Amino acid sequence: MLRHLLIPLLLAFCPAGIAAEPGSLTFPEAQAFLKTYCEACHRGKTATGGFQLDKVESEKSFAMETHAWTRLKTRIEAGEMPPKGLPEPMLAARETFAKWVDSELKREACSSGTTVGPRPLRRLNRDEYTATVQDLLDIHLDIGGSLPADGAGGEGFDNAAETLFLSPLHSEKYLDTAKLAMDFAAKEFKSRARILVAKPGPGVTPEMAARKILAKFLPRAFRQPVGESDMGPYLELFRLARSKGEEFEPAVFFMLRAVLVSPKFLFRLEQGEYALASRLSYFLWGSLPDELIFDLAAAKKLNRPEVLRVLVDRMLRNDRSGNFAERFIEQWLHTRDLSRDKMPDAKLFPEYAADEDLRADIRLQPVYFFREMLNRKLSVLNLIDSEATIGTGKLEKHFGLKLPLDPGRKSQPQWVALPAGSKRGGVLGMPAVLAVSSYPYRTSPVLRGAFILDAILGTPPPPPPANVPPLGDEKPGAAPKTVRERLDLHRADASCAGCHSRIDPMGFPLENYDSIGRWRDEESGKPVDNSAELTDGRKVAGPDALKLVLLEKKDLFLRNLTNKLLGYALGRGLTLKDSCTVDAIVEEVKQNGYSSSRLIEAIVLSKPFRGEAEVSK
Ligand code: HEC
Ligand code: HEC
Repeated sequence: MLRHLLIPLLLAFCPAGIAAEPGSLTFPEAQAFLKTYCEACHRGKTATGGFQLDKVESEKSFAMETHAWTRLKTRIEAGEMPPKGLPEPMLAARETFAKWVDSELKREACSSGTTVGPRPLRRLNRDEYTATVQDLLDIHLDIGGSLPADGAGGEGFDNAAETLFLSPLHSEKYLDTAKLAMDFAAKEFKSRARILVAKPGPGVTPEMAARKILAKFLPRAFRQPVGESDMGPYLELFRLARSKGEEFEPAVFFMLRAVLVSPKFLFRLEQGEYALASRLSYFLWGSLPDELIFDLAAAKKLNRPEVLRVLVDRMLRNDRSGNFAERFIEQWLHTRDLSRDKMPDAKLFPEYAADEDLRADIRLQPVYFFREMLNRKLSVLNLIDSEATIGTGKLEKHFGLKLPLDPGRKSQPQWVALPAGSKRGGVLGMPAVLAVSSYPYRTSPVLRGAFILDAILGTPPPPPPANVPPLGDEKPGAAPKTVRERLDLHRADASCAGCHSRIDPMGFPLENYDSIGRWRDEESGKPVDNSAELTDGRKVAGPDALKLVLLEKKDLFLRNLTNKLLGYALGRGLTLKDSCTVDAIVEEVKQNGYSSSRLIEAIVLSKPFRGEAEVSK
């Protein structure tokens, strides 16, 4: 009975059925929604769970009751409220409502302009620590291997402050690692030359020499100038070692080892322009600033737009930016998982499992592609579709294509034009991405569809309900079914279609790629069906048609990429206030032909990145 009454209301929320536009509610409509589904339990003094509808009944509440709005939106979005068993809004109505709350909250948050946002304390993550020690000591030793791995936080990256605390396990490992690194450096000619900038000689006491060495080493390690109070404790260690009868050099390395476990080394505690210097170099190089950046900070010239623009360009061209490309791409596109739980099945794909070079080429293709795109200042839309890619001899064979590779260096990844009709443009034509969005033993249009919605468009589907049975294996004797036939069955079920009619059509057009990204025309002896019907009723078939659909959503893609890059650059999760910054960056990049280098530049020039107190006009 109640359900019956609700139907006209639901129609009012999503007139076009499932594909209701975001922001399409009025305030009274939203209030009617809350009244219908929530009033029974959340009104007045007897309200359940500490949530009162009364709090959110005026338009002013977006400013005054941000927390209440966020909570109620989250619970509705997750399908947790109203509780199970009660009349509940359809998925589309829930999404429309949630998007409307988001846009209202954002409007409120942005009314006071862009802001710097939080600056949480964070330590160097494992990769940053490794690169920093290597650069500081000039050694090539992978010392990070023994440190515990960092979890992902914020926008999905392992440099997010939220996850970078210091556990007792870390402290112990840092001590071991510092010893390992220093012992190694003490034997290397290059490192010794870099570190031992003074020695006791006629008229120079060992302590004077040690002080000189420390005065050179400590500012680089701490990434900012140091004072006498910083030096004191380390010189004390030097004296201690000497008093125990140590020779000069071992005493120096003993002293410097302690620097590597200092909080000022392990944590990003830099101040003023030095904080910006480090933010910049950890963003684009994954390591400490070089002398030029350091000097610009010292001269208080770093925080000038014209200086930052030139620096960004120079830094992207430097080899060290490979660190950035690799870490960003492998986490954004999840291709790190290729060597973990998404590793293609070795029995089914022996040629992949046996060929280490092919695996490396596959894994690095999107990384090099991203770097070349930036260096060539191409449009970010090349990530969706492109006329060139990164090729090698192994990839050429894997694709079954003839690529115009430089015959002399086919083993080297190189930027190559794609032949017409290659179906290999953009990241969705890359085996790494196609494999990581498959199961190890078969493709899944659902996983690929969900991957596109999440990683590419930034509109992830809600998590699947807990009790869904896996795609059943066929009964013995029954005719084999393709994955599509099995998926068609569940999209026929209305309770599944709510999500799957949005997810699956994004994956079906990629069915011509097997789970290691090779082209195929048949599956289980039947021709591959790469067609799909989108939620708006349009039919698409094959990867090229899918990419056209994604290109129509290019602003959604740009916004998502901007969110990811800004989150990575700041090393934290984004807040509602940051979305105003994101808006401004998106607008600027759009005005400039979707230029990828412009995007990086705009991020570096943004208020949250440069820091408010430091921003000079
Ligand atoms: C049948 C009663 C009932 C209905 C209807 C109901 N809720 Fe709740 N709600 C509860 C109960 C019980 C709790 C406390 C337990 C919990 O948090 O899950 C709660 C807790 C909450 C909380 C506070 C907990 C938190 O996450 O901070 C919010 C917010 C909330 N509900 C929002 C809603 C919204 C929005 C609706 C309508 C879409 C709704 N509820 C409909 C029973 C209900
Ligand atoms: C709230 C959204 C939602 C609903 C409702 C939903 N699913 Fe899903 N389903 C998903 C998502 C998201 C995934 C991808 C999960 C992942 O990333 O591992 C998925 C994955 C699956 C898969 C695995 C696909 C594969 O290739 O093996 C099957 C099977 C599936 N769902 C069946 C169903 C069925 C049957 C129903 C209805 C009873 C249903 N789902 C309802 C969101 C949903």
